[in-house]
Amino acid sequence: MPWKVLLGLAALASQTHALLRFACSQLVVERFDPLVTPGMVSPHLHQIVGGGYRFDIGMNANNDLPTISTCTTCTYSEDFSNYRTAVLYFKHQNGSFQRVPQRPGELLGAANGGMTLYYMQPNGGGKVTSFKKGFRMIIGDPMLRTFNASNEESNHLNFRCLSAGGGNGGTSGTPGTDTRDLPAKACAGGIRSEIVFPSCWDGVNLDPPDHKVGSLARPFFCFPLISMRSQSHMKYPVNDKCPASHPVTVPTIFIETIWDTTKFNDMWPSGTPNPFVYSMGDPTGVGQHADYVFGWKGDALQRAMDQCNSFGGACATLKTQSVDAINKCTQKIRVRETVEGWLSALPGCNPVQPGPARATAVASCNATKDYDADGGPKGGSSPAPPATSNPSPPATSTAAPPASSTPTAPASGQVAHYGQCGGTGYTGPTTCVSPYKCTFTNQYYSQCGGTRRTSKSGFACINW
Ligand SMILES: *[C@@H]1O[C@H](CO)[C@@H](O)[C@H](O)[C@H]1NC(C)=O
Ligand SMILES: *[C@@H]1O[C@H](CO)[C@@H](O)[C@H](O)[C@H]1NC(C)=O
Ligand SMILES: *[C@@H]1O[C@H](CO)[C@@H](O)[C@H](O)[C@H]1NC(C)=O
Repeated sequence: MPWKVLLGLAALASQTHALLRFACSQLVVERFDPLVTPGMVSPHLHQIVGGGYRFDIGMNANNDLPTISTCTTCTYSEDFSNYRTAVLYFKHQNGSFQRVPQRPGELLGAANGGMTLYYMQPNGGGKVTSFKKGFRMIIGDPMLRTFNASNEESNHLNFRCLSAGGGNGGTSGTPGTDTRDLPAKACAGGIRSEIVFPSCWDGVNLDPPDHKVGSLARPFFCFPLISMRSQSHMKYPVNDKCPASHPVTVPTIFIETIWDTTKFNDMWPSGTPNPFVYSMGDPTGVGQHADYVFGWKGDALQRAMDQCNSFGGACATLKTQSVDAINKCTQKIRVRETVEGWLSALPGCNPVQPGPARATAVASCNATKDYDADGGPKGGSSPAPPATSNPSPPATSTAAPPASSTPTAPASGQVAHYGQCGGTGYTGPTTCVSPYKCTFTNQYYSQCGGTRRTSKSGFACINW
């Protein structure tokens, strides 16, 4: 057979099974969420894996994650994307909380916690097109407490009760059963969270279309709206086909996190409800959610989707790094609070809200807006970070970190776009450079830019 035909067959064969499966170790666990609440402490705790860079520069769509990142926690070293989920706590009968440690996926090496990432060809085959620079999506709804079968996203969020030794949850050789809620019994091998992102893109919008600026994303008060809005550019396939409105097949991203609940199992008194609770105060698990910010270098993801079918092994077209190297990439914690060990409340003081009604947002406690802008001495006495530690965001994203102790401009000056211009305890200038207006975000924080509106459900939202 002529070599061209061979090559064509090989490409075709692999294309119908595009698959990547790899580990990304923990980058950081803290109340910082550059996508939803840029430049401020977020309402609940997240884990973030992937590209490490200064989250406080915000998420300007022009930022090129491979350029601004200093390292990545993913075994494929050209993946500087960020993947983010809430984290799980154990609630002791005595009222104390402790974060549940994470275990890496099997056969992927001893990664420091983190997640297992899959990029899969959606059922139905055909060409898989890479996401584009600036693409983001969010699925799930942190306020949800009751599984809703008509909600597409809810149908793609599951848990698996793992059997001893990290088994897949079934009797030997058979798969286990997924649940929508956190498992109601102690799981000998821990609990695996399984999150499947939609794979049909409208081919136009990198982020929901009602983001006028398309740079800083959604403040947390909009959470109940986000999941709806994020679907505006993405859909799940119907009968394995992308709808005409969302015709571009992108990879199905599947995130697994294994919560190693085993050391808490003997602290679970028999007959009592599930003692685990997500960081937003969700003991049901149906409020689990995840964010994705695309950050593959160049055309690496497209090449991989065209050529690779790898369940944890090599993908010849991609560069890899050792597990040692991925574990070395970590981010300095900037939010000043304790999140590990026995705690008297969930970070941010999120109350446990079991539902069945939607949870309500509450005022955050501790570290509500302060964080160490440069990882320097606590108390914020250090000056603005040296230029070298700032991976030069584009000019449009130079929002100074809104730490209360470091006003973004002299008291007499005007605040730059995205800078802080108000909030409890804030003493800096309150006038924004033209054309931006000082906009109330919450009692602790007002920021230059955007317009405020109130959603139907009564949540305050900012449209940037
Ligand atoms: C709750 O129990 C844990 C485990 O025994 C213990 O370490 C913690 O101090 C207790 N908390 C309180 C408030 O008693
Ligand atoms: C369930 O989800 C559907 C689709 O998103 C939505 O229209 C409906 O209001 C939801 N039901 C409840 C009870 O939240
Ligand atoms: C909040 O801060 C107070 C005072 O420093 C501390 O006692 C409390 O444990 C903190 N709460 C949380 C949830 O971190």
